[in-house]
Amino acid sequence: MHLPDLITAFGPGRVNLIGEHTDYNGGLALPFAISDGVTVRARALPEKEIEAIAVDLGERDRFELADPQPAPGWRGFVRGAAGELQQAGVPLRGARLEIEGTVPRGAGLSSSAALEVALTLALLGLSGAPEPDRRELAKLCSRIENQWVGANTGLLDQLASLFGEDKRALEIDFRSLQVRPVALELGDYKLVTLDSGERHANAESGYNERRAECARACEELGIATLSDASAETIERLPSPLVKRARHVLSENQRVEQTVQALQNRDLEAVGSLLSASHASLRDEYEISTPAVEQAVQRLLDAGAIGARIIGGGFGGHVLGLLAPRARPPSDAAEVRPGPGARLLEQ
Ligand code: GLA
Repeated sequence: MHLPDLITAFGPGRVNLIGEHTDYNGGLALPFAISDGVTVRARALPEKEIEAIAVDLGERDRFELADPQPAPGWRGFVRGAAGELQQAGVPLRGARLEIEGTVPRGAGLSSSAALEVALTLALLGLSGAPEPDRRELAKLCSRIENQWVGANTGLLDQLASLFGEDKRALEIDFRSLQVRPVALELGDYKLVTLDSGERHANAESGYNERRAECARACEELGIATLSDASAETIERLPSPLVKRARHVLSENQRVEQTVQALQNRDLEAVGSLLSASHASLRDEYEISTPAVEQAVQRLLDAGAIGARIIGGGFGGHVLGLLAPRARPPSDAAEVRPGPGARLLEQ
């Protein structure tokens, strides 16, 4: 079999329109892939080793394919990608990987999943192995993050990056992992992101603690996942578990209402739902910060009809829906749904 000596793979970041911290609770979310992301150029090496270069950081790594060991920072993702693919039975070839990204790290736009997805597609392509089912690949990528990087994140980012479509958001049901494209027709309205300037790492922020709180709430209620709970039963949970559960149940409803509002072309309703999601993430899930609040306020002052924190929380970007004649702050960036992860022409 002829194997390619050069493969370039791109993994997009994502913006989550709504449905935050619902993925690991068996709930619903409505993300889309964006045009920013991570590109990995992989060139085959005769040695059975990986040489990786993080071009933006000017840093390198090198390890034997036979024995990838965990490492801090971006190196953990590369080693995890090699480790997990081999564990899944993919016969990897040695490679030199050049990694370059346009999505800021730790900023709520899913730089981690973009990296995992680009790395695995590039390594798979170079090995000549057929691309696995994309749901299975999303799970493999999330194992890199959970087991090699120490962030107990869910599948939102990987599914958004792998299933992204032009002009469409993706309604994801995390119970069945069903992904349903939903047209995102905004007319003269605009979605913009604004950086709060604060960075987070999901492995170190309060993210893992929130996930553990949800698991405790399930234990107390004797259910498998919080999305199975009813609004009445969660009220017997102690604080702060009751607050976390209230967020999850109300956020699932907001996702359904947003899909409906988009179908009705009722963008004012979408704006109100974004702001309601933010209030719940701030007051019930408690993942906002003063810098995030300031960024949300700046978007509202600029004429956003709704704005909210996106991603894991504790910093990162905020998202706003701007009315037709509103002028975004000069440091805001317009975002639109773009295609999912793919191999690029050389
Ligand atoms: C991060 C995680 C996702 C998801 C979001 C919150 O982006 O990687 O799995 O939990 O936070 O919705």
